[in-house]
Amino acid sequence: MNTVFLNGDYMPIEEAKISPLDRGFLFGDGIYEVIPSYFGKMVGFQGHIDRMNNGLKAIGIELNWSDAQWQELCDSLSEKNGAGPLGIYLHVSRGADTKRFHAYPENIAPTVFAMTFEIAVPKTPDLATVGKGYALTSTEDLRWQRCQIKSTSLLGNVLHFQEGYEAGSQETLLYNSDNELTEASASNIYVVKDGVVATPIQDNQILPGITRQLILDILAKDGSIKVEERVITLDEVNAADEIWISSSSKEIAPVTMLDGKLVGDGKVGPVWLQAATLYSANKFSY
Ligand code: PDD
Repeated sequence: MNTVFLNGDYMPIEEAKISPLDRGFLFGDGIYEVIPSYFGKMVGFQGHIDRMNNGLKAIGIELNWSDAQWQELCDSLSEKNGAGPLGIYLHVSRGADTKRFHAYPENIAPTVFAMTFEIAVPKTPDLATVGKGYALTSTEDLRWQRCQIKSTSLLGNVLHFQEGYEAGSQETLLYNSDNELTEASASNIYVVKDGVVATPIQDNQILPGITRQLILDILAKDGSIKVEERVITLDEVNAADEIWISSSSKEIAPVTMLDGKLVGDGKVGPVWLQAATLYSANKFSY
C-alpha cells in the first residue's frame, strides 16, 4: 500500500486530493526535498531539513515545523510504507488560494504533502560489479539564477533532463555561458584529474546537494583524496580522467561517456572506487 501524508492526515495515495487553486499546481510555488532512507535509517536528515527551511525562508513561506515534527513524519511514513529502501519526498507549497493572482496571498495555510517511493539499495562499491557507468549529454544551463533553492518549479531541469534522455543519456551535464561547469539536471558533478577531485563552488548556479556536502565532509575527514571547490571549465571536463555525479538516490555514480566520447579510458576509475567506498562506510554518521 502506498500511504501518503497530506495536511495532517495519512491516507492511501488515491485519496489525496489537492485544490486546482493550490499555488504549487498553478505556479510551481513551493519547496521540496528527497531524503533517502534505508530500513528506517535516513541519510543526511538534518541537512535536508535545514535546506528545506532555507528554501521556505527564501520564498517567504511560513511553516515553522520543528525538526522533531519532520522526523516524526518521515519515521511514520517510512514505517507505514514497509520501512524498506525508500526515497522520502517532502513538499510544501504556498497553499490553495481563492483565485489565480501572482502576489503572495495573506492568511493562507501552506500545503504539506509527503510520500515515499522505492529506491535501490546501494551496492557495495566494486569495480567488477559497478557496470558501465552513466552516459551524459552536455548542454548550456538555461535555468534561472536561483538554482540554490530546491523549488518545485522544475521545468528548466525537466527540459534539460529530457534533452539528454532523448539523446540516449541518463543525465545532462550543464555549463554556464562562460563555459563553466554548474551541475547536472538532477545531480551535482565532480571531475577528477591526476587523482585530484574538483567540484563547482556552491553558489546560486547549483543546488547545495546534501550528498555533495556529505562527500566533501567525508573526504576531508579521511584526508587521502585531495578535493577542490572551484570554477571548472568545459575544457577541463573534456580532459578529465573521471567524472562523477551525486544525488540522494544515486549516491556517487561514475560517468564513463560524455557526448558519445569516452571519459578517460572509458572505465570506472580508481578514485571513484575509493570515494564511493568511504561514502558507503560513513554516510550514516552525519
Ligand atoms: N535531485 N542538483 C539538482 C538540480 C538536483 O535536483 C539534485 C537532487 C541534486 C543533488 O542533491 P541531493 O544530493 O541533495 O539529492 C543536485 C533530487 C533527488 C530530485 O529532484 O529527485
